[in-house]
Amino acid sequence: MTRDELLAILWENADTYISGAQLARRLSVSRTAVWKQIEQLRGEGYLIESVTNKGYRLSSRSDVLSAAGIERYLEHPNIRVQVRRSVSSTITVLKEQAEAGAPEGTALVAEEQTKGRGRMGRSFYSPPGTGVYLSLLLRPDTAAAEAVALTACAAVAVAESVESLSGRPAQIKWVNDVLLDGKKICGILTEASVDFESGMLHYAVVGIGINVLNPTGGFPPELQDRAGAVFGTNGGPALRCRMAAAVLDRLMGYYERLGEKTYYEGYKQRSVVLGRPILLLTPGHDPVPAQALDIDRDFALVVRLADGTIRHVNSGEVSIRPGGPDF
Ligand code: BTN
Repeated sequence: MTRDELLAILWENADTYISGAQLARRLSVSRTAVWKQIEQLRGEGYLIESVTNKGYRLSSRSDVLSAAGIERYLEHPNIRVQVRRSVSSTITVLKEQAEAGAPEGTALVAEEQTKGRGRMGRSFYSPPGTGVYLSLLLRPDTAAAEAVALTACAAVAVAESVESLSGRPAQIKWVNDVLLDGKKICGILTEASVDFESGMLHYAVVGIGINVLNPTGGFPPELQDRAGAVFGTNGGPALRCRMAAAVLDRLMGYYERLGEKTYYEGYKQRSVVLGRPILLLTPGHDPVPAQALDIDRDFALVVRLADGTIRHVNSGEVSIRPGGPDF
């Protein structure tokens, strides 16, 4: 019997009792072996009640990430979920699996990342128990230049999932941060392997980190001003499993019609930079003041510089200049 098989049966029967004898029969093990595994799952944080003559009952309020827990809410048939307690980075590990031939739709979700990676070589704070750190492997038949569309549809997938679970409007800060009430609650990093001859993608791994609950003990001081969480300390039943499933479902849905760009309007409507005075931040260069005018269909930011020149900016980051002059 594997721990995951037991967990899958408990999730199938979430909030209802299933007897130890029934579990033992289905898993071809002794009732004592079932009991030992249940104890281990409790130690991991699963809320499992036991009542004499009734058996065991897993509470759907258990907010522990598990493959069975996520698959319970997942609708898309072509996503295969793996969950790890702790990994260096879900992107790094999933890229290794991609190189070894893992199929499109392989998703890796972690409770904790010890080397979570952000854009521009930064790290991504990934403490256990409160976030969802996931990566999805895709094998699109597109040119590398179009990989930016993957990040954009991921941002819309996250914004919609956050809105449907929290009931609050999410914003997108070009190019790939998702915000709630002005605080960053999610970062997205897409990495790809490219065929240099053809310029086509071998594969892409879309990495998404969401602060679902406030980290125990709060965010580190350097993040406190900018980072937030979707919920405070208690969001509701199986919340992180539902968040992971919602994001994966939506992302796969948009990906399957990537070229139609059905997510373009949803991206633009949620933009916090449009119409605002901004600073263009490119590593190794001084910040450039500009006015954000539009986002084109390739997800480049259309800006007007101080001398009136219009530019379509494909990479880098922006910050908003509060009260800065318009031009
Ligand atoms: C950013 O905001 O700079 C991007 C952050 C991306 C974080 C996610 S968490 C899951 C995946 N694994 C990583 O190491 N990074 C991405």
